[in-house]
Amino acid sequence: MTHKKEYLKEMGIDIWQDKSRINDASMTAKTSSQNNLEDIKKQVIACKLCDLHKTRTNTVFGIGNEKAKVMFIGEAPGANEDLKGEPFVGRAGMLLNSMLRSIGLERTDVYIANILKCRPPNNRDPLPQEVKLCTPYLQQQIALIQPKVLIAVGRIAAQFLLNTMESMSKLRGNTYQYGEQKIPLLVTYHPAYLLRSPSEKRKAYVDFLLIKKMVE
Ligand code: URA
Repeated sequence: MTHKKEYLKEMGIDIWQDKSRINDASMTAKTSSQNNLEDIKKQVIACKLCDLHKTRTNTVFGIGNEKAKVMFIGEAPGANEDLKGEPFVGRAGMLLNSMLRSIGLERTDVYIANILKCRPPNNRDPLPQEVKLCTPYLQQQIALIQPKVLIAVGRIAAQFLLNTMESMSKLRGNTYQYGEQKIPLLVTYHPAYLLRSPSEKRKAYVDFLLIKKMVE
């Protein structure tokens, strides 16, 4: 690290790097991060930290571009995701794909993960203890991917990531900062909610336009 960077770090000033100007050294770091994501995935596959391993069909680690600028974080796998081992693959996932396309992105351009890597039985809400045990996996994924923006998908994900009990109407529309890296975080509606309340899609589109603006 250069002296200047060391000083800035000591002063608690974050050093932001434009990914389009990423240098060779950090490209190397990214290459090794791909291996590390594979390592974490292996740990998740073997994970028995909570009881959800007893009822899962597959773990659902996360999928997408490991150098993504945008990382979506949902709550937990549902039935389809548990069967396929991939996040957001049911009807809600198809809507998420369409919303991505509406701002010129494909699923393969972004990274998609959940807070919990295993399906809670009957799609019940995650228990605080399950979140506590599973969050280190997500934190490592975020640290390796280094997205420019995080998107909390739905109320449960937003409340856990922001450590709040505020309602979606209060949480949406603001930009937050996540973790020590102070990664900008936006909150948007869960696509399953949008399937039930299609009139809210307009607001979700506004969120997606903001995502586009933040990564341009
Ligand atoms: N809902 C989520 O929060 N995540 C998924 O992967 C699927 C549905």
